[in-house]
Amino acid sequence: MTQHIHPPQILVGVSGGIAAYKACELVRELKRAGCAVRVVMTSAAQAFVTPLTFQALSGEPVRTGLLDAEAESGMDHIALARWADQVIVAPASADLMARMAHGHADDLLTTLLLATTAPVTLAPAMNHQMWAHPATRANLALLQERGVNVLGPDAGAQACGEQGPGRMREPVEIARALLHPGTGPLSGRHVVITAGPTQEPIDPVRYIGNRSSGRMGLALAAAAQAAGARVTLVHGPVALPLPTGVRAVPAETAAAMHAAVLGHLDDCDVFIGAAAVADYRPASPCAQKMKKDADTRALELERTEDILADVARRVRDRSPRPLVVGFAAETSQLRHYARSKLETKGLDLIAANDVSAGRAIGTDDNALLCLWPGGGERSLPHQPKAALARMLIELVVERLDKH
Ligand code: C5P
Repeated sequence: MTQHIHPPQILVGVSGGIAAYKACELVRELKRAGCAVRVVMTSAAQAFVTPLTFQALSGEPVRTGLLDAEAESGMDHIALARWADQVIVAPASADLMARMAHGHADDLLTTLLLATTAPVTLAPAMNHQMWAHPATRANLALLQERGVNVLGPDAGAQACGEQGPGRMREPVEIARALLHPGTGPLSGRHVVITAGPTQEPIDPVRYIGNRSSGRMGLALAAAAQAAGARVTLVHGPVALPLPTGVRAVPAETAAAMHAAVLGHLDDCDVFIGAAAVADYRPASPCAQKMKKDADTRALELERTEDILADVARRVRDRSPRPLVVGFAAETSQLRHYARSKLETKGLDLIAANDVSAGRAIGTDDNALLCLWPGGGERSLPHQPKAALARMLIELVVERLDKH
């Protein structure tokens, strides 16, 4: 961050969304950290929280209108844009992102965003379908290309009652990212994560796949990133939007995922194998689409590479040695099978989940039994995968400290 002779001057833009109430907490955090804070609200934001709330929290008058003669005579909008050392928009709604991406200046906040030369950070918050919409994706890509920093959103329960990526990142984490970039418990660490299913071709149109949505791996990537890590996410075909700020490497098959992981292991500090990698693939996939002729057909399968075991083997003699974390999906004798997998694959931590009766795979919630060498274990209770991922990352940080 640039050196200031004055306390950091942070302009907080609040756009319209239920997460506007969390912006109050953000202003408190920033004030507690000694920042000077000025708040600008869109008209939609005022439907959720009153300017008076932000005025009380920031200790400054709150600006809401572009053409307010009295406010402009105090500090005009250009002076306000110049005043800011940093601009954070929290929450950033889909509409705010759209207007910003297209250079609108139809209210005070969008005008300031055009006028400022300070670094701009967005903390998006919206319904998960709105976040996944191609229009929002395109606006996000455009804004990131222009250097806008994006924090979150995180996945989890939404105010609308649905689950998914769209929750505003926690105010403490936003404040930390703004004021002390690179100070999370995993800052300076490179975390490589595999996520999602693989698709093993039978012929050009058919494949062997599985029910994994990638939700747990994506949530782990977001949680590791929020903890300050540089994250490489090697992912199979997933329908969910990928977390912002991570390096995403798509890989369709077990072989492609294996190659991609090995290509990113050099400076890896933590490897987490959360992908549901196929154990077998068709031994000789057909180059042409298979015809419907015989009444029965046999498909010869061959073993795929065990990415996790291979990573553990390859890093065994390194110093420092990366922490290698695996998952075990079991339908019975969870603890027993997980511990033997921990040992045979040479892992530092294994997170076991019960997948009997449709639990865990492709669902929103899960519980994990985590085991590590020497007999240690911890149960992470049943909860949404985003919260569970944060708890698992906390455990990874603990194990890394003792590594
Ligand atoms: O041996 P099993 O498939 O039960 O082990 C599960 C763990 O191994 C998961 O962490 C999964 O990501 C990883 N795995 C892998 N490559 C495979 C099979 C599983 O990395 N081919």
